[in-house]
Amino acid sequence: MYFSGTYFHNFRNIGAERRKWPPGFNMISGPNGSGKTNFMEGLNILSGWGPLDKNSRIANLIRWREKEGELKTLLWGCVEGEESTEVFVSLRTRSQLKCDGKTIGAAEMRRKIPVLAFLPGHMSLISGGASYRRRLLDITGALVEMEYARILNDYRTVLKQKAALLKKRSDTKAADRILASLGSWLWESRGEILNMIVSEIKKFAQLFHGKVDIFFVRGGGGMDEVASEDFRKSLIAAKDRETRSGIPLVGPQRDDIRIDCDGMGASVALSRGQGRKLAVALILAAARVVERCLARKPVLLFDEIYSELDAEGREYVIDALISTGCQVFASTAEASPRDGFDIFKMRDGRFSRHEA
Ligand SMILES: Nc1ncnc2c1ncn2[C@@H]1O[C@H](COP(=O)(O)OP(=O)(O)O)[C@@H](O)[C@H]1O
Ligand SMILES: [Mg+2]
Repeated sequence: MYFSGTYFHNFRNIGAERRKWPPGFNMISGPNGSGKTNFMEGLNILSGWGPLDKNSRIANLIRWREKEGELKTLLWGCVEGEESTEVFVSLRTRSQLKCDGKTIGAAEMRRKIPVLAFLPGHMSLISGGASYRRRLLDITGALVEMEYARILNDYRTVLKQKAALLKKRSDTKAADRILASLGSWLWESRGEILNMIVSEIKKFAQLFHGKVDIFFVRGGGGMDEVASEDFRKSLIAAKDRETRSGIPLVGPQRDDIRIDCDGMGASVALSRGQGRKLAVALILAAARVVERCLARKPVLLFDEIYSELDAEGREYVIDALISTGCQVFASTAEASPRDGFDIFKMRDGRFSRHEA
């Protein structure tokens, strides 16, 4: 799928202009504060994912200093490729999504127009904390499995309740039963998703050297192969520690992906630049999984694509992105990105020039 046209009205600092987009690799270049991240956020919202920062309120998305009564933000997109659709989001006190004139739920929209978005922090899959690696599994899971986002959400809700019970030193048995059922489903699902990613990563071998081994690590688990048994046994084993610490110690909230290069932990073995390239390989492998499962190519958003990469690394990454055949929107604040693809210059929320 690809966005062939967009129009954003009253959305952050983005100028109200109708734009056409080509299907391939699009570089958006502009100085800090010009609106590159905002534009990507618009695409993220149009595809059902909501704001890039989950804590962002709708009021922050609406263009500042609009007169009372005109406080309505509209995002429009035309999508082509495997299917042609028109998508529309209106943001007022809450957001409403429409696809071809009909109201549609966010989860359905996400699977209709699969989009995978990465801010620079999200790409710290090697050097950063486990939450970035879980995020890759979660955004892939939410696209390829209908129930994934709902189950993850339910799990998090009950987990909060359990944490509150632990703090009060109350009994957690009922919460544990629900967590074991939802959590072991997530363990199985994340494990399968990672296996699919690993089977695709070889296609992007130009982005890393040596032997890379990738394993799913169940948070606080490891006592049984079978996820449900593992969860049950691990909860029993962790019971006293949980009571003492007041923190739930078993479950998907502590999952991780272990990545080894030639037998050594990747975060130690690789430089930041090498780590960034391996992260892109993981992301592109996830994009392949999405493409295979949904039979439609995802749109990829990479904010500040060049960060941490040297000249050679940039070449490899751009070539790999182009090789996917996906529509890509990448951004950079740097003045002269290499040529050979479409560059859209941005300033003060407007695209000023288009170079082919
Ligand atoms: N709701 C809003 N209305 C108008 N301008 C906004 C709004 N939210 C953010 N901005 C402006 O958008 C600019 C930041 O855009 P951003 O996309 O982060 O820039 P870039 O990614 O190109 O560095 C800031 O100058 C900020 O003041
Ligand atoms: Mg930015």
